[in-house]
Amino acid sequence: MQFFNTSQFSKRNHADILLLPFWEDSAPQSCGEISSHILTDLKYALQSGDFTAKEGETLVVYPAVQKEPRILLLGLGKKESVSIDSLRRAFASAVRLCHKKKVKKLNLVYPQDTLPLSEKQILKGICEGILLTNYKWDQLKSSSIDKTVQLLEDIEFIGFPPKYVPELQKLQNIAEAVYLARDLINGNADDVTPKFLAQTAKNISKQFPKIKTTVLNERQIVEAGMGLLSAVGRGATHEPAFIIMQYRGNPQSKDVTAFIGKGITYDTGGLNMKPTGSMETMRDDMSGGAAVMGAISAIAAIGLKANVIAIVPAAENATDGNSFKPGDVYKSFSGKTVEIGNTDAEGRLALADALSYAVKKFKPTRMIDIATLTGAMVIALGDDIAGMMSNTPELAEQLLAASRSSSELLWELPLHQPYKDNLKSEIADIKNIGGRPGGSINAALFLQEFIDNIPWAHIDIAGTAFNAKERHYTPKNGVGFGVRLLVEFMESLVNRKNTKTQK
Ligand code: BES
Ligand code: ZN
Ligand code: ZN
Repeated sequence: MQFFNTSQFSKRNHADILLLPFWEDSAPQSCGEISSHILTDLKYALQSGDFTAKEGETLVVYPAVQKEPRILLLGLGKKESVSIDSLRRAFASAVRLCHKKKVKKLNLVYPQDTLPLSEKQILKGICEGILLTNYKWDQLKSSSIDKTVQLLEDIEFIGFPPKYVPELQKLQNIAEAVYLARDLINGNADDVTPKFLAQTAKNISKQFPKIKTTVLNERQIVEAGMGLLSAVGRGATHEPAFIIMQYRGNPQSKDVTAFIGKGITYDTGGLNMKPTGSMETMRDDMSGGAAVMGAISAIAAIGLKANVIAIVPAAENATDGNSFKPGDVYKSFSGKTVEIGNTDAEGRLALADALSYAVKKFKPTRMIDIATLTGAMVIALGDDIAGMMSNTPELAEQLLAASRSSSELLWELPLHQPYKDNLKSEIADIKNIGGRPGGSINAALFLQEFIDNIPWAHIDIAGTAFNAKERHYTPKNGVGFGVRLLVEFMESLVNRKNTKTQK
């Protein structure tokens, strides 16, 4: 069965609950077409003052006489201050209530009235709010009694504008890619190994034949000369993998965007081991990899006319007799030698080889890397905002625009060139750490050494990848941050190109 269906009020099917959205005003204002008998049923509830329709406020009413199911009143806040994200947040609150009440089928009276937003923006806010909240991770719970979250299975939009029906499928495809990323992040590090990521990429290729997947194993990584990625992976029992996914949605065009996602399936810190309290969430250190895999699968699912490559250098940073060593020097794919100042700065090593591999093999038009790269970024911007640095202002602006419409928040930090001095090594071409001050910038400047002046942006999601607790439409643990951002970035790139050729 399809998740989203549409109907008219008079022809609606039975549901477990009927959701009515309201605007906050002197008295709550209903914003869809509903029959007068329902309004009569709600009269006392609305007059009581118990429900003022503040953003995300809910009230369940149990009609006495009519054949209606439970009615869920949802506040959307003040009409004049509505935004895509306020709709996401409000509908997230309704979905969480439905989870508590084990609702499977929901009828929703679709908002009809004119707003400061376009119809498409309203649709996006409502659907993303519902879809992104309707997720659970309980695969590791053994008892079925513990698996208490009943997800919504069927939503009927009543009075939905028919011309937007295709949009519903698209938004669902993108949400499924976010779920994929979340599942990969949430899974045990001993299950979601580099090999598992590679197998997932191959499975995505089977589902979307326009994506071609190539995987290099440890021997091939070493033979290719990726001395940094292989150094990082050396101590682990699970061998590293280098995953390349190529989507050709526009074979006539030479324009190619490369996404590179950090794929450290577990980060112990290596021989410079992380202390207790800093390691427990480090199965999330492949969140960048999960984001680019999710993004390319969503891009294929919606059939975007663009060429995209997703690369995931995947490895586990473990401690072992064979681990790479602080103070030693390793040779990168680019030929540059790198002194290891700290084995916990492993992400930039894996990414450096992936970036220069992308440059050499694919000559991409632009590259975007996304990584849980530095603890310093968590300190600078907190849990809600990812840091972005770029060598190309136009690319940075395009990413900021995608950030505004996806509400996956980005803040640009300066790629301050004088700090390159921090990375000087006396024994090698460069060192992989640059001291604690400006730690996130030092990391980006390290990456900059491997991009050969191609337009590039670096997104550090160390703070945003993993939630300590659920928040609005993002769940506890893996967030899937970056999937929607990258998809929106590509969508607007395609739209801009289309308008340019029309001119
Ligand atoms: N994976 C970590 C960064 C991280 C920290 C992600 C907290 C999510 C939450 C990364 O590999 C790391 O350990 N970076 C070090 C670099 C330092 C040794 C220069 C850091 O930030 O402490
Ligand atoms: Zn680390
Ligand atoms: Zn790491």
